Amino acid sequence: MSKMTDSAKLVSRFESALRCPHCENPMKVAGLKSLVCPNNHTFDFTKQGYVNLLPRPSAGNYKKELFEARHKIVVETGLYASMHKTVGKAIKEYADAGNPCLVADLGCGEGSHLYKILDECDNPEVTGVGLDISKEGIIMASKRYDRSIWFVGDLAKSPFADQSFPIVLNIFAPSNYKEFKRMLVRDGLAIKVVPGPDYLRELREALYDDDEKRAYTNEDTVSLFKTHFHMQHLFHLNDTKKLNQAERQQLVQMTPLAWSRDQARIDAYLDRDVSEITIDLHILVGKYTE
Ligand SMILES: C[S@@+](CC[C@H](N)C(=O)[O-])C[C@H]1O[C@@H](n2cnc3c(N)ncnc32)[C@H](O)[C@@H]1O
Ligand SMILES: [Zn+2]
Repeated sequence: MSKMTDSAKLVSRFESALRCPHCENPMKVAGLKSLVCPNNHTFDFTKQGYVNLLPRPSAGNYKKELFEARHKIVVETGLYASMHKTVGKAIKEYADAGNPCLVADLGCGEGSHLYKILDECDNPEVTGVGLDISKEGIIMASKRYDRSIWFVGDLAKSPFADQSFPIVLNIFAPSNYKEFKRMLVRDGLAIKVVPGPDYLRELREALYDDDEKRAYTNEDTVSLFKTHFHMQHLFHLNDTKKLNQAERQQLVQMTPLAWSRDQARIDAYLDRDVSEITIDLHILVGKYTE
């Protein structure tokens, strides 16, 4: 069976969680080929299995090279393994309590974090739905990971029905809490992963002189999250790992931190002997109780 048909079958099990990005009516899978609303707005399954649900094309900043580098770092270095374990465990606890479990990753990029997290959570009843505004990211995700559902779409005007998801993830990506709350079921969880103050500290120090860019504070992000959700857990993860030169090259390519930086400074960072990198992350787990 083709990836397109497999994906259409998987989506048809969860079609009630979708709504048309144009007219907000429910959508259904038609002929294992398309998603269609009652006003005949039609979105085709692609051969890779994803569906583009953006009302109009969008040019993002994130390019294929960045997503490939993120994929390599996430899958090959294990830098984010503690984050995957922690988030996977939070989902598993929720799912094992017998709750039906559809997990949306909003701003999922090339999909590796969602894949690793679901692997950790190890519950076949949990299905992942990745959404990103970048078609490049979603193409990569859908080529690699076929147990999840992949959509190109805008998290600020999401193609998801009201109260259709028990869990939303939001990892290093912009948020739209009004939308997150609209799509969450009552007592559902929002899980947001943000950089802590020491995140990629060694790279920041190599590329910037300016103290503001070298240091990073997430206080405003955390306070805003708390105004929308009832905080259940706030995990602080701080890991330091050695990276070889090839891995440092991927790191430079995967982060907007190095955009428009002086090439000489980037080269000096790459030419170091084996060096360490700090992965300082805060994981916010909040319940939607309104
Ligand atoms: C720093 S990347 C993080 C990607 C992925 N979560 C990861 O950690 O590898 C931010 C992502 O947010 C996506 N994004 C930005 N604005 C968005 C929007 N309005 N709707 C959906 N995705 C968006 C970008 O395309 C990009 O993939
Ligand atoms: Zn419609």
